[in-house]
Amino acid sequence: MTLLHEPDYGTPASTSPERIDVVVDGIPVSVPVGTSVMRAAAEAGVGVPKLCATDSLQPFGSCRLCLVEIDGKRGTPASCTTPCEPGMVVRTQTPRVEELRRNVMELYISDHPLDCLTCPANGDCELQDMAGVVGLREVRYGYDGENHLDAPTDASNPYFAFDESKCIVCSRCVRACDEIQGTLALTIVGRGFDSKVSPGGRSFFDSECVSCGACVQACPTATLEEKSVIDLGMPTRTVETTCAYCGVGCSFKAELRGDELVRMVPSKNGGANEGHSCVKGRFAWGYATHTDRVLTPLVRESIDAPWREASWEEAIGFAAERIRVIQEEYGVDSVGGITSSRCTNEEVYVVQKMVRAAFGTNNVDTCARVCHSPTGYGLKQTFGTSAGTQDFKSVQEADVIMVIGANPTDAHPVFGSRMKRRLREGARLIVLDPRRIDLVRSPHIEADYHLQLQPGTNVAIVNALGHVVATEGLIDREFVADRCDPVTFAAWEDFIRQPENSPEAVEGVSGVPAEEIRAAARLYAAGPNSAIYYGLGVTEHSQGSTMVMAMANLAMATGNIGRDGVGVNPLRGQNNVQGSCDMGSFPHELPGYRHVSDDAVREQFAALWGAELRGEPGMRIPNMLDAAVVGEFKALFVQGEDIAQSDPNTHHVQRALESMDLVIVQDLFLNETARYAHVFLPGTSFLEKDGTFTNAERRINRVRPVMAAKTGKQEWQVTCDLSAALGYPMHYDSASQIMDEIASLTPTFAGVSFALLDEVGSVQWPCNEQHPLGTPIMHVEGFVRGKGAFQVTPFVPTDERTTRRYPLVLTTGRILSQYNVGAQTRRTANVAWHDEDVLDIHEADAEARGIADGTWVTIASRVGSTVMRACITDRVPPGVVYTTFHFPDSGANVITTEYSDWATNCPEYKVTAVEVTPTLRGPEASVVAVGAEPVNA
Ligand code: SF4
Ligand code: SF4
Ligand code: SF4
Ligand code: FES
Repeated sequence: MTLLHEPDYGTPASTSPERIDVVVDGIPVSVPVGTSVMRAAAEAGVGVPKLCATDSLQPFGSCRLCLVEIDGKRGTPASCTTPCEPGMVVRTQTPRVEELRRNVMELYISDHPLDCLTCPANGDCELQDMAGVVGLREVRYGYDGENHLDAPTDASNPYFAFDESKCIVCSRCVRACDEIQGTLALTIVGRGFDSKVSPGGRSFFDSECVSCGACVQACPTATLEEKSVIDLGMPTRTVETTCAYCGVGCSFKAELRGDELVRMVPSKNGGANEGHSCVKGRFAWGYATHTDRVLTPLVRESIDAPWREASWEEAIGFAAERIRVIQEEYGVDSVGGITSSRCTNEEVYVVQKMVRAAFGTNNVDTCARVCHSPTGYGLKQTFGTSAGTQDFKSVQEADVIMVIGANPTDAHPVFGSRMKRRLREGARLIVLDPRRIDLVRSPHIEADYHLQLQPGTNVAIVNALGHVVATEGLIDREFVADRCDPVTFAAWEDFIRQPENSPEAVEGVSGVPAEEIRAAARLYAAGPNSAIYYGLGVTEHSQGSTMVMAMANLAMATGNIGRDGVGVNPLRGQNNVQGSCDMGSFPHELPGYRHVSDDAVREQFAALWGAELRGEPGMRIPNMLDAAVVGEFKALFVQGEDIAQSDPNTHHVQRALESMDLVIVQDLFLNETARYAHVFLPGTSFLEKDGTFTNAERRINRVRPVMAAKTGKQEWQVTCDLSAALGYPMHYDSASQIMDEIASLTPTFAGVSFALLDEVGSVQWPCNEQHPLGTPIMHVEGFVRGKGAFQVTPFVPTDERTTRRYPLVLTTGRILSQYNVGAQTRRTANVAWHDEDVLDIHEADAEARGIADGTWVTIASRVGSTVMRACITDRVPPGVVYTTFHFPDSGANVITTEYSDWATNCPEYKVTAVEVTPTLRGPEASVVAVGAEPVNA
């Protein structure tokens, strides 16, 4: 059973570079200054009994089980709270401490249910283990005195139970919630015998708890226990893998009993998460084995015909034949493919290879088009690399954190917790967001400045920050002279000093008082380490790419690049959005962001692939859809992506899909896009995949199969079969071979192999001869492009304007318990927290329209309308409304428009002019695209 547990050293490691020598039970050991006696003992191979200590939490010293004797010191100090001193001689096993420990344990056991054999934690209970370790044989006080054995169980949380009768009040759960998660949902109430754990006097479900599970993991007894363990029993084996939800990319141990997954436990040595998780990764994996999954290929002649089951051969033959006929009739470029940021690097790589080599076109794009394509463009123009600059750990060194258009506590929760820890330690916080996100005010955290800007005015505000830096003498001239291109800097400085970029000029358009902009700019420039973290609130605008470059300008001008604690950091949405971009999913770039028009690069790929490759960029998703509507684009392969729900202006997407002669969908579920498909190729869940995901910090993590593919095939095998049927065989024996090919063709991946990842856990690219173990921080010595290139970033207001007819601005986002279009999380118990999208509206706007909290409203834009419930809140300012897009019933994208980023076509999801009116209708009549029948009536 111990294979389930990683070693626990009792207290956190000290980071001091200085070392001291101590002796524990006669064993000499050298430890960093600040190491506890308990940890030194563990490092010497001596286990000291403990209950309230664990190495993920600061020592607390409450259980008194870890007492030791130290030469020259009086009494029996607790080893967890006693720091080592030079030359200390420690004895952990003297008759005196052994006696004391037995007494302590006797008291615990006398107030604990004696149901070890039937307890769900049997074999995984530290209290049980410690009773054995201290040699407890009898309980002299009996079990009949006053006790807590009848205390109730709180089973309100869908995923874990709280059986108070087993609680030893060690506070590990409370400290985990405070120190690791940062939610502070738990307290110890009462004193002495009456003290107990309380989620704020309410049930867990009704409390502030966000179900991250840190307390469950920290609990040394069965008091807090996963319901899956209670139902299925203790797991017996583990497989190390990676979460398939967000771009944080948390590492997990999938713990199984036989072939059944029992629980997911975040790995302490996970580079991205270091033992923490959120509710999605830890608990919301049930979708992977949900009965809605389609496990057999499906085909149909037309989209109004019923599906029929087919063999793999038939489905692939059907698809290949149609592609052949379409290309004969409409030309080679009448077909294309979309890769998925939810699939592995290896799966994505083979799809783009199939499109380029077997389809013979560069018409390949990825769902990153609709989220972070401006990041790729903007950071490449300025720094030379299409990726964030830091590792997640870097935030621990930040003095000033600027969060722009991101909501880390909901969308990137484990990183959000890390950031909150740094903020509680005293880092300063600037938030740029139209909404009051949780970070603005949460326990022990208050933003110094919340610049509550009007949606669509990001560039104006960041230019104004740059203006203050430039005009108030806050430019880091030494950094700029040393690291940046003087010509582009001079042009930028000249531009940014213009009066139209001043805070006073920007105040009117952005709604942010000039003095606040000035103060925020001064704070950011003062640092000394200032870091920018941003999300889709930056990229999903008509000036998304401009904004990325404006932030990069600001970071370069203030010298905040190239070391720990600084940088420009995109918080990527989906688990493998970085990887799908890296793997050559864009129509103009081969893997490693190399342009298809570069003859030398293309020849290298052509030689290895044995195929002729085209040198001109193919079509992006919106271009493919537009071409379909006019009858010029006829077939689309869609890998793990639901464009009919996730892409803007749903009606336009539907019309495009309806116009095609062949839509192939590879997915777990018959999603909205599959309504328009002719071939459905069942996909594999992350529990079945073998490959790698690359997270937001460029970290390449292994995804290992926890169970056999339920469809009988890995997705890359299906792609290879289709490619072969098209006359271009691709053969690989394993996903590892695919990675070897990627490494051989992609300089930033040159050193990556499954063998390396299995050995070291994970690496951050670039990983090559110069950086054999990867690159946590980019641009340390110089920028990847040589000199950092400033870009002139004039603010151009979006064409999407509010009018008398559409006077409000709709902006969209995510919520913690749901994920993206909800295909996964809607099929889990997470719906207990959020089972419909709602419209956040300010009281003033609601009142003016006669809207009450919870009533149905119609939200109409110039392209469509939908219906959802109103939620009156002061999180949004007057004039701005907000919703999520997790449920197809509300179809939020029916109302988003065709406007997009000028450089990358990333849709302008964050700004849609709308009107909101009360309605009597419920969701059954909800989604109406202009000029269309209701689609889910
Ligand atoms: S619930 Fe568990 S971790 Fe929390 S105080 Fe009780 S025994 Fe300790
Ligand atoms: S699950 Fe997470 S948020 Fe909830 S009480 Fe436990 S540690 Fe706190
Ligand atoms: S933070 Fe993201 S990667 Fe980590 S467990 Fe949650 S959803 Fe998964
Ligand atoms: S483990 Fe040291 S006092 Fe509890």
